[in-house]
Amino acid sequence: MLQNLDSYFSEVEGYEIKDKESLEAFRLKYISKNGLVSGLFEEFKAVAPDQKKLFGSKLNQLKQLAEGRFKTIQDEIENQTAADDLAGFDFSLPLVPNPLGARHPLSITRSRIISIFEKIGFSVSDGPEIEDDYHNFTGLNFPPNHPAREMQDTFFIEKNPDMLLRTHTSTVQVRVMENQKPPIRSIMPGRVYRNEAISARAHCLFHQVEGLYIDKKVSFADLKNTLYYFVKELFGKDTQIRFRPSYFPFTEPSAEMDISCHICKGKGCNVCKHSGWVEIGGAGMVDPNVLETNGIDSQEFSGFAFGMGIERITMLKYGIKDLRLFTENDVRFLGQFKGNI
Ligand code: PHE
Repeated sequence: MLQNLDSYFSEVEGYEIKDKESLEAFRLKYISKNGLVSGLFEEFKAVAPDQKKLFGSKLNQLKQLAEGRFKTIQDEIENQTAADDLAGFDFSLPLVPNPLGARHPLSITRSRIISIFEKIGFSVSDGPEIEDDYHNFTGLNFPPNHPAREMQDTFFIEKNPDMLLRTHTSTVQVRVMENQKPPIRSIMPGRVYRNEAISARAHCLFHQVEGLYIDKKVSFADLKNTLYYFVKELFGKDTQIRFRPSYFPFTEPSAEMDISCHICKGKGCNVCKHSGWVEIGGAGMVDPNVLETNGIDSQEFSGFAFGMGIERITMLKYGIKDLRLFTENDVRFLGQFKGNI
C-alpha cells in the first residue's frame, strides 16, 4: 500500500495542467471530496497500526502537494486572464465622467465672501429669519412710526404683529452686540424677506451679508479700506469703489457703495445702465444711539457696518440678468456653475 502511495506523488507532479478545464479535472481527480486523496484517507483507517504513522505522514505530504499545485496553477491562470483582459486596452482613453452636480451660485458667492473676510479676522454670525420688531427696527434706531420702516416692505406675522420676517441681516448686528463685548469683528450672511412683486430685478426673498466692526478708534477710513480690500479680492484688483451719501437710521454718516461695472469695466453697458457704476450695498459708521441701546459705550467705542446683496454680487460676477433664475431650480442654469466651489 505504501508503494502505491509513492507512485501517486509522481502522478500528481506529472499531471499535465494547461488551462482551466484541465485544472478542474485535476481538482476533481485528486482533491475534491470524492477524489483520490479523500479516498486514501478512507483507506488509512484500515492501515495496520504499526504503519499508520508513516502512511499518515506520506498521505499528508501528498495532500499538500496536490493542493499546492492546484493553488499555484490557479493563480497563474488568473493572472494570465487579467493580463489578457488588459491586452489591447487603451490607457490613454479619457475616463467616462460621472455626472457631478453643481453648487448653487449663491452658495458659491457666499463661501467666497466668507473666506475673503475670514482672512482679515472676521468671524461668521447667524440669527433667526423670523424676528421681532425690536431686532429688525427699534434696536437699530428706527423710531416708532418712522417712515424708514415703510421703506422696508415688511412681511408681518398676522397672529402677532410684533413678529416679522427679517427685512435685512442688520438684525444679527443687534444680536451680536447683545451677546459680545467689543472688539467685535463679524460678518452675518443670511436670507431676508421683503414684500415686493417678483420681477427680474426684485424678489420677495433674497440674501444679504452684513458686516460689523466695533473697537476703539474705528474710523470711516477703516470702513473704506476693508471694503476696498473686499471688492478687489472678489472682482479683481482693477475694481474701483465709490461711496455716495445716503441714509440709514442705524448708521451716521451713511453711504451707498458702488463698484465700477465688472461687465464693461466702467465703459458703460446695459447692466450698469451706461453709468459705469453698479450699487452693491449700504454702509456707514454705527450710530452712537445703536451702540448705547445695545450696551456699548459710544464714548469709548466706535464701529462701522455694511450690508450687501449676495444676489446682486452674484449677478455682477457672472453676468446674470434675471433674479428669478436663482429660485427656479432650472438645471440648465444651475449646471453652468459646475466646477466652482
Ligand atoms: N441693512 C441695510 C439694508 O438692508 C444695509 C446696511 C447695512 C446699511 C449696514 C448700512 C449698514 O438696506
